Amino acid sequence: MFSTSLRVFVIYALTTLLQTANAATPNEWRSRSIYQIFTDRFARTDEFNTYCVPGYRGFCGGTWQGITNKLDYIQGMGFTAIWISPVVQNVADSARAYHGYSATNLYGLNSNFGTAGDLKALAKALQSRGMYLMVDVVANHFGYDGSAYDVDYSTLNPFNQREHFHVNPICFIEDYANQIEVEQCWIGDGDYPLPDVNTTHPTVREGFSDWLKWFIPEYSIDGLRVDTVKHVEKPFWPIFNYASNVYNLGEVLDGNIQYFCPYQNYMDGLFAYPIYFQITQFFSDPSATSANLVRAIGDMTSECKDTTLLGSFSENHDQARFANYTQDMALARNIIAYTMIADGIPVIYQGQEQHFSGGADPYDREALWTSNYDTDSPLYNFVKQMNAIRSMSFTKSSSYLAWKQTVTYSDGHIIAIRKGEANSMTLMVTNNLGEGAADYNLNMPNAGFATRLKVVELLSCREVNVDQRGGLDVQIISGLPSIYYPQYLLPGTGWCGY
Ligand SMILES: *[C@@H]1O[C@H](CO)[C@@H](O)[C@H](O)[C@H]1NC(C)=O
Ligand SMILES: *[C@@H]1O[C@H](CO)[C@@H](O)[C@H](O)[C@H]1NC(C)=O
Repeated sequence: MFSTSLRVFVIYALTTLLQTANAATPNEWRSRSIYQIFTDRFARTDEFNTYCVPGYRGFCGGTWQGITNKLDYIQGMGFTAIWISPVVQNVADSARAYHGYSATNLYGLNSNFGTAGDLKALAKALQSRGMYLMVDVVANHFGYDGSAYDVDYSTLNPFNQREHFHVNPICFIEDYANQIEVEQCWIGDGDYPLPDVNTTHPTVREGFSDWLKWFIPEYSIDGLRVDTVKHVEKPFWPIFNYASNVYNLGEVLDGNIQYFCPYQNYMDGLFAYPIYFQITQFFSDPSATSANLVRAIGDMTSECKDTTLLGSFSENHDQARFANYTQDMALARNIIAYTMIADGIPVIYQGQEQHFSGGADPYDREALWTSNYDTDSPLYNFVKQMNAIRSMSFTKSSSYLAWKQTVTYSDGHIIAIRKGEANSMTLMVTNNLGEGAADYNLNMPNAGFATRLKVVELLSCREVNVDQRGGLDVQIISGLPSIYYPQYLLPGTGWCGY
């Protein structure tokens, strides 16, 4: 009796030790910066820049080995993690398998992207650079080639029984305001079905846990991007998140903060969609004013469990690219600055650094090789600067990463955001004036810095003293964003000659 329980305890302790040795926790992810890769469109193994028709629904040839070969391009911008498309085996129909969201077998791989050896080699190459691997996963649905009403469930793995899916009766979501429908009806349609998993079924819940306990260590995965979170009942997610033993960053595609934030009580992090909608509106249109964004920032901070564990993004593979709304380069820089310095773990979608301008899915999935992986492009270098500023900020100030941002100044077209203590904070000043705007001076009455501190605007290297009441004299040149930082923290960093 005693020896059995002791043995169980020893095995438990060893398993826990082994798991924590590999796994990256939410707190470890906080300091990361993520580059989102749409695997089929990132890099081919052969490096032939084969033409890929914009909007094409099918394979253009990107692979895991292609990613491994191009890690310098990603790390060169300062990213410390990548998120890749789902890796598991998908339906045969290439129009639905190229993105990876139509799984048939969780224990197999999408062979179009390479072999198990290729995926492990990618994980190893990342590890040797100190970078993390985040893999996209879907629990809400599988895929099937054939009619929704004629699914041969035995071809799916590991959920191979009709009762593992929502089938009484099969329905397709029509009313997105009806949460039961959102959770229990299917997305997709009768001809291209996405069989909706019955995630309340005990066998299914166990099946996901068993799969994650194999999958995460098998491919040395450090974090998960979780698809279609709002389409699954909330109580499922803590089971899933816990079994994975890594940071989970989920997709709740909704702009309503009251609807959105409660999901963070069930999962480590979420892509900050309510902020995404506000920053896209504000920064894409010089006639828009900042009020809605300022309000959303406050509401997110008060309603969400921890905004510093959310994913901060301004583009992804589902939404029209920012440059599809405006070609203005100053606005493009402002939204990138916001994305990378505001609360959350920054996520930049491949191609944003090359100012790609495709419309919504499938036009936002341009092959990156058309850019020739240009490391001299203006936004490649801007992203690199933002990653460097962010990492300097959290290296020099221990409170930066968990600090909840505050808006210290806003008017119709300018928003200043503070992160950190008064003597070691980073102040980001963004605007939506546009590149043609006249230069602009303003005195921010209370920027947040300690009085009389000497600060440097890191992108222009202009130096300015905070006045004796905490006011800061800010210049806005050609609609560009600016970042103010204490001068005394710069020596040794290389910034502005220090
Ligand atoms: C899901 O499975 C559970 C357990 O077998 C069952 O009670 C429930 O009715 C199923 N739900 C739906 C919507 O099919
Ligand atoms: C925006 O997207 C649409 C649809 O893909 C496309 O026709 C248009 O050319 C895009 N605009 C720009 C500026 O690229």
